[in-house]
Amino acid sequence: MITVIGFNTAIDRFIRLDSLRPGEVSRALDEQVSPGGKGLHVAQTIAALGERVQLIGLVDPAHRNMIGRQMCERGVLFHGIEIADSLRTCIALQDATGQITEILGQGPLLDVTQQEALLRAFRRGVEDSDLIVLSGSLPRGFESTIYAELAAHVRDAGKRCLVDAGGALMRHALEVQPFVVKPNRDEITELFGRPIADLDAAVAAARELHARGVAMPVVSMGALGAVAVDDSGTWRAAIELSDVRNTVGSGDCLLAGVTVGIARGLPLEEILRLGVACGAANALAEETGYATRASVNALAPQVRLQRIEF
Ligand SMILES: Nc1ncnc2c1ncn2[C@@H]1O[C@H](COP(=O)(O)OP(=O)(O)OP(=O)(O)O)[C@@H](O)[C@H]1O
Ligand SMILES: [Mg+2]
Repeated sequence: MITVIGFNTAIDRFIRLDSLRPGEVSRALDEQVSPGGKGLHVAQTIAALGERVQLIGLVDPAHRNMIGRQMCERGVLFHGIEIADSLRTCIALQDATGQITEILGQGPLLDVTQQEALLRAFRRGVEDSDLIVLSGSLPRGFESTIYAELAAHVRDAGKRCLVDAGGALMRHALEVQPFVVKPNRDEITELFGRPIADLDAAVAAARELHARGVAMPVVSMGALGAVAVDDSGTWRAAIELSDVRNTVGSGDCLLAGVTVGIARGLPLEEILRLGVACGAANALAEETGYATRASVNALAPQVRLQRIEF
């Protein structure tokens, strides 16, 4: 069983527009509403690949059925901690050129009792699992050191932790050396305080994270591909796609593939291949944060892998 911590469950709205002009009225061409949040994306893609997975996150009365139904249909065991407040909304606006503008809601403010309910579920999840994914932002009320504390708990339990988060959450988590961290281009640039704009720079940054004690840093660079490092070496991987529809959530799907690859004991390059195929599968479909097994299987052989010797 893999456990995914995705506390800040969201309701995703993907809206297509002719054009987006600040300060002006735009009419939606169509709109899709679906359960979201980075942890939920990771969990449903892990399940699609055929591994047992549970997701721990918030749920509100208005969306309990919608989220529960989708998680059930997709084979995710969902532990929803119910709150009276509304879940956050994440809006992705896509104009006719394909460009996407995202507006990410903050999430409800939790009191100590609600926080403790999530943390209790986390501790039970660690007992159930050898791999624990900490993914995405947190509802308000938690300190920015919370992922560091959770990652330390996972490590002290002799389990492996994978962290995908931005800003201070990631900075603090790095201090306890999670097994995997998965920054994207913006996040790694922020972490290092210097532009990481190509795969060579990503290789150098990933190696630096490895030297700081992260067993398997994975840096994802959008269309450029991704880089992974562990004690066995350094690999980069990419795939060329001609019909990209929606890349939002590709990093979540990449992390799902990496998690499954680790669970299956694959060598580093095959872990990265699976991750990149999942990221690409997400990019080719309209839906945010989901990769089907058929699509991943079709794309995996097309991933170009390169070992970096020096
Ligand atoms: N346009 C693309 N063409 C080919 N592969 C892509 C493309 N976009 C994403 N990918 C694949 O998906 C992986 C993850 O994408 P990206 O680096 O954009 O993640 P991210 O910014 O963390 O996304 P999110 O946080 O929205 O899930 C990339 O490393 C790459 O392998
Ligand atoms: Mg990401």
